[in-house]
Amino acid sequence: MMPTPDLSNRIILVTGAGGGIGATVSRALAAHGATVALLGRGTRALERLYDSIVDAGGPEPAICHFKFESEPPEAYAQLAETLAGNFGRLDGLLHNAALLHGLTPLANLPLQEWLRAVQVNLNAPFLLTQTCLPLLKNSDDASVVFTLDGAALEGRAYYGAYGACKWAQQGLARMLARETEVNTPIRVNTIDPGPVGTQLRTTIATGTPSSDFPAPETVVPAYLHLLGPDSRGCSGKHFNAAGDCLD
Ligand SMILES: NC(=O)c1ccc[n+]([C@@H]2O[C@H](COP(=O)([O-])OP(=O)(O)OC[C@H]3O[C@@H](n4cnc5c(N)ncnc54)[C@H](OP(=O)(O)O)[C@@H]3O)[C@@H](O)[C@H]2O)c1
Repeated sequence: MMPTPDLSNRIILVTGAGGGIGATVSRALAAHGATVALLGRGTRALERLYDSIVDAGGPEPAICHFKFESEPPEAYAQLAETLAGNFGRLDGLLHNAALLHGLTPLANLPLQEWLRAVQVNLNAPFLLTQTCLPLLKNSDDASVVFTLDGAALEGRAYYGAYGACKWAQQGLARMLARETEVNTPIRVNTIDPGPVGTQLRTTIATGTPSSDFPAPETVVPAYLHLLGPDSRGCSGKHFNAAGDCLD
């Protein structure tokens, strides 16, 4: 059983905050005291999430409207500047957004689909991490978490650009963990939530209702642990939804 973390005074940026896991983890972070910057492309989903956090008595979150496939690099710098102006630092960065068009053989994968997915699933996490590094360095204890996918990491067929980018994110995370291990307060880990009943899972498992899979709430403790102070000192590791360190 993981201890319940105290996240008060932590500032945490969550991408894909309007989605199944993103919204659930964001609400839980706020319920444990964190101020959450909710990044996503869907205005209504983010506003509903904002309201639910405030209604539950959590710290007022920030909304960052951001479309990864269309924002130029300067927009990332602007976002980091806004976060710096509002908060001065970041104690957590959860890379959670993902774009999966569906399962397609590489032989049939349209180039535009590949390019869009690489922009959202790889270029965006790189750019966001790079521009947020100064903010993360301003923290006493900053945690960067990349969300991976076990099926993609197995090289399972038909996962296309989404699958290739999850492999690449693993490489990015490991590299960053090594580059930040000396003289920075930053730790970098990865998590595979496993099958969870969300929109993305419905795209993979067509015909199976999302209620047949574990609810997003089941993966929350592992995320809270990784983004909270209790995982201090742990970097370059990969975790599953139960919070077990896999390597
Ligand atoms: N569910 C599973 O079974 C499973 C298994 C393994 C790994 N994962 C990982 O878990 C993470 C969360 O996925 P989920 O299951 O919660 O799926 P989800 O409900 O479909 O959420 C995906 C999120 O990514 C956002 N997103 C997609 N394209 C974007 C873009 N261009 N710009 C900004 N945001 C964008 C979506 O925004 P909108 O809300 O605007 O659409 C949504 O908030 C992903 O990294 C996924 O790879 C999930």
